[in-house]
Amino acid sequence: MARRGGGRHAREALPSVLNYLGATVMVVGLVEEAEAGVGRVSDLVEAAKAYSNMDRAPLVEVDVNDGIEQTLAILSYKLGPSVEVIREYDPNLPRITAYGGGLNQVWTNLIDNALDTVLSNGRLRLRTTCEGDGVLVEVADDGPGVPKDLQTRVFEPFYTTKGGGAGVGLGLDISYRIVVGRHGGDIRVVSQPGDTRFEVRLPMEPGDGIGQVEEPAEATREEVSR
Ligand SMILES: Nc1ncnc2c1ncn2[C@@H]1O[C@H](COP(=O)(O)OP(=O)(O)OP(=O)(O)O)[C@@H](O)[C@H]1O
Ligand SMILES: [Mg+2]
Repeated sequence: MARRGGGRHAREALPSVLNYLGATVMVVGLVEEAEAGVGRVSDLVEAAKAYSNMDRAPLVEVDVNDGIEQTLAILSYKLGPSVEVIREYDPNLPRITAYGGGLNQVWTNLIDNALDTVLSNGRLRLRTTCEGDGVLVEVADDGPGVPKDLQTRVFEPFYTTKGGGAGVGLGLDISYRIVVGRHGGDIRVVSQPGDTRFEVRLPMEPGDGIGQVEEPAEATREEVSR
């Protein structure tokens, strides 16, 4: 009797056992998902730490490829599924002495602008290479481009075509100050519809021969941003 009763109880208990097991499997799945999420979050936290730590020691040895990757991680929230990121990093790029936090601001502004133009779909191409005694970084997109007559204006403070408060018009002005003013490098845009490239040239050390290390005059700014 006891056995038959036990069998009946077991049959009656089956649905709840299955429910329990189902719930457990679901919980395990959720835990795994949460763990993967935590992994992603800690990757992001690592990138954020590396990104912001650079401000602590202003003049540091910088791996430019790493700085661009950290910036991409920070901006990953803006990378839609249909934006293709093409990385053409020079694996032998020498480390340069630079204001690391400043440079990350430059990559942020340039990538942010490129992503604004290819938000729904398009390509963001990031290229680094050695050039002369320094390094060249190209942030390119296949968006509509900057019209020829505006190519000298985009580096002016408060120049923006992003309406509704979407842009302040300071990203490129700040980038110019950092690249040319602080590092003595060079920043310019080369653009036609479907192919816009912001080129940043940096010397091995600030003021090492490419441009001047002082606040730029307007004339120089126009000359550089051709
Ligand atoms: N990749 C690009 N393609 C087309 N136009 C661009 C690109 N990058 C910049 N621009 C033009 O240059 C303008 C100035 O850019 P800038 O980054 O200085 O300001 P912003 O993006 O408008 O505002 P924010 O201060 O938020 O950066 C932009 O409003 C846009 O018209
Ligand atoms: Mg901008």
